[in-house]
Amino acid sequence: MKLKVGLIGAGGFGNIHLSGYTKNNYCQLVAVASGTKKSATLASEKYNIPGVYWGDDWKRMLENENLDIVSICSPNYLHAEMTIEAIKHNCNILCEKPIAISYQELNNIEMMLRKSNLIYFTSFQKRYNPCLPYAKSVIENNAIGEINFVRHIFSHYGPYTSWKPLSQEKWFFNADKAGGGVLMDLGVHSIDLLRYLVGEYSKVEGFSYNTSCKDIVNEDNCSVLIRFLNDVLGVITVSWCNEPSDVIEIYGTKGMLKIDLHSREPISFKPKILKKNQYIKMFWKKDYSQNKIGQHLLIDHFINSVISKKQEQPDFIDGKRAVEFVLEAYSKKNSR
Ligand SMILES: NC(=O)c1ccc[n+]([C@@H]2O[C@H](COP(=O)([O-])OP(=O)(O)OC[C@H]3O[C@@H](n4cnc5c(N)ncnc54)[C@H](OP(=O)(O)O)[C@@H]3O)[C@@H](O)[C@H]2O)c1
Repeated sequence: MKLKVGLIGAGGFGNIHLSGYTKNNYCQLVAVASGTKKSATLASEKYNIPGVYWGDDWKRMLENENLDIVSICSPNYLHAEMTIEAIKHNCNILCEKPIAISYQELNNIEMMLRKSNLIYFTSFQKRYNPCLPYAKSVIENNAIGEINFVRHIFSHYGPYTSWKPLSQEKWFFNADKAGGGVLMDLGVHSIDLLRYLVGEYSKVEGFSYNTSCKDIVNEDNCSVLIRFLNDVLGVITVSWCNEPSDVIEIYGTKGMLKIDLHSREPISFKPKILKKNQYIKMFWKKDYSQNKIGQHLLIDHFINSVISKKQEQPDFIDGKRAVEFVLEAYSKKNSR
């Protein structure tokens, strides 16, 4: 028997989730809910989904459809309320990032999840780039020595230019609905990748920002200084104003590992002598091509996790730590 899936928020990213579920043999899309009848009906017709709901009727979807799985792809300010209702209806959850926009919302979700045996995944699909487990193993095997510094530059031209949300609501640039600016949008991915590669962060040591190209109240350009538990120093720079870039540099006592997530040959090392390192040599000609996009790999992983009833990562704590990171940075805004 297939797992019954319902999706809330049939917009730009919701459609990527929908196509992922249709490609997975262990589940079946049975219902879709969106803000407007138009988006819900379009998705229903495109993906052949029988249950169609709009407006506040996502609640009726949870009551009527006896779902095993709910994917939450609505605007950020709705994630927590929808997650809590989905837990009450005993649904396993895949939630888009950021999973919530306040400490209170994070606590409310955590309390509910603790009382359940449900599987919860945060939609950190960037982790599924095939070069990342390799980079992680290079670090763990000390091939570039002891890590002391890491930085990630992640930029594009932002929603409505680089990324086109479908809904007419224009919520991305509304501080109350998005929960912040570019740091809430891209910074959550960035800290998640660094936590995955380097380990848990201990605190935010600095935050600097400007609003330089968009007509919004929050930041569209910023850098955050981070301290990790292992004393590594980190810098995340995210922007909605610059040429697309997605580059992580990890500096160790023996050399530097660079990951360019936009490149076909994403991994490089400095100095050149590192090529002689036995461990790095072993992986040098690795093939990083993939036949599925990250979001679909994440959905397959999530479905397997639900079937095996074994919680795997990226889980709720990963989503929570990423939002806490952003909120901690925002708390430093006044001390700029
Ligand atoms: N993981 C990633 O890399 C990634 C990338 C992009 C976006 N995202 C996340 O995905 C989420 C959606 O972003 P998006 O770009 O897809 O935005 P979007 O195109 O604006 O989609 C939002 C969807 O939510 C629907 N919605 C609004 N209010 C609703 C309600 N009360 N009940 C049910 N549905 C409602 C909208 O419906 P209508 O269209 O009918 O108005 C729209 O379909 C955000 O949290 C965003 O951060 C993640």
